[in-house]
Amino acid sequence: MGNFLAGKVVAVTGAGRGIGRAVALAAAAEGARVVVNDYGVSMDGASPTSEIAEGVVKEIEAAGGEAVAVADDISTMAGGQRVVDVALSSYGRLDGVVCVAGILRERMLFNMSEEEWDPVLATHLKGTFTVFRAASAVMRKQRSGTLIGFTSGNHQGSVSQANYSAAKGGIISLVRSAALGLNKYGVTANAVAPVARTRMSANVPMELAEIGSPEDVAALVVYLLSDAAREVGITGQVYTVAGPKIAVWAQPRELRSAYASGGWTVEKIAEFLPGSVGVDPMPMLGRLQEMERAAREGNRPNAQ
Ligand SMILES: NC(=O)c1ccc[n+]([C@@H]2O[C@H](COP(=O)([O-])OP(=O)(O)OC[C@H]3O[C@@H](n4cnc5c(N)ncnc54)[C@H](O)[C@@H]3O)[C@@H](O)[C@H]2O)c1
Repeated sequence: MGNFLAGKVVAVTGAGRGIGRAVALAAAAEGARVVVNDYGVSMDGASPTSEIAEGVVKEIEAAGGEAVAVADDISTMAGGQRVVDVALSSYGRLDGVVCVAGILRERMLFNMSEEEWDPVLATHLKGTFTVFRAASAVMRKQRSGTLIGFTSGNHQGSVSQANYSAAKGGIISLVRSAALGLNKYGVTANAVAPVARTRMSANVPMELAEIGSPEDVAALVVYLLSDAAREVGITGQVYTVAGPKIAVWAQPRELRSAYASGGWTVEKIAEFLPGSVGVDPMPMLGRLQEMERAAREGNRPNAQ
C-alpha cells in the first residue's frame, strides 16, 4: 500500500463496477477509508441490487483496507445525503467525494423520450449535485476537502447521446461553480474525463485510438484527492485520462469580439459578424465528417 491518502475518508459513487470500483480500490490501497456507493443497476439504470457495492467492500477488506457499502440511488437527495452521513457515522470525517455513477440511454435527439432524458440527467448531473451538496456543507465547516466530478469528452457534443452530453457539460459547470464558491473554505473541485475499457465503453461503434484501463483513471483521481494536488492549488480543472495520455482542457473564453457604435441592428450584424467575429469550427463536426467518409468507403472509423 502507498500512503497518498493516509488518514483520509473518501466516498465514491458508482464504485461497484468499472472506473468507480478501480477508484475505490486504489483509494483504499493508498490508505483511505472508503464509502463504496453503488445502486447496482444495469447500464440503462434498471434492476438495482445491493450486492455490487458489498462485493467491492469485501475486496477492499480482503486487501487489508477499510470500507463501508451504501447501495442507495444517488440521483435522490436522500441518497446523496446518505453517502455523506455514512462517511461521518462510520469514520467521523469526509475528505473527498468522487462522483462516478452513470448510466446510458442512447437515442437520436429527434426520437428521444422524456424517459430517456430524465434518468440520464438525474443520475449524472443531479447525482453529482446531491453528493456535492451534502459533502460541501461538511467540507466548508472542516475548511478542507476535495470534490471530483466525472465528465466525458462527449461534453463537446454527441450524435446519439444528447442527454449524456448535456449532463456531462453540466457537470463541468457544476465543478467550476464549486471551485469558485468553495475556494475560500479550502475546498477544491475538479472534473475527470476518462477513456477506459469498461462495460460502458464496450459498445462504442468505433476504434478508440487512445484508451486505457480503469486503473489509469484511478491513479489520476488518487492524485487529485491527495495533499500533493491540493498543495499546488489544482482546482476548477478538467483532465482527460486515456491510457498513457493525461490532458488538461482549456477554460472557456471569448475568442473574438466586435463592438457597434450606436448599437447593433440585424443589418449591421449580417454585415460584420461573418468577417469579424466569425465562427470557431467544431472539432467534433470535422471528425464526424471524416468518420462518415471512412464508413462510406467501407473502413472501420477511428475516433480521435
Ligand atoms: N468508460 C469510459 O470510457 C468513459 C468515458 C467517458 C466518461 N465515462 C464516465 O465515467 C463514469 C464511470 O463509467 P464506467 O465506464 O465505469 O461505467 P460502469 O457502467 O462500468 O459503472 C457505472 C456504475 O454506476 C452505478 N450507478 C448507476 N446509477 C447509479 C445511481 N443512481 N446511484 C449509484 N450508482 C449508480 C452502476 O451500478 C455502475 O456500477 C461514468 O460517469 C461515465 O459516464 C466513462
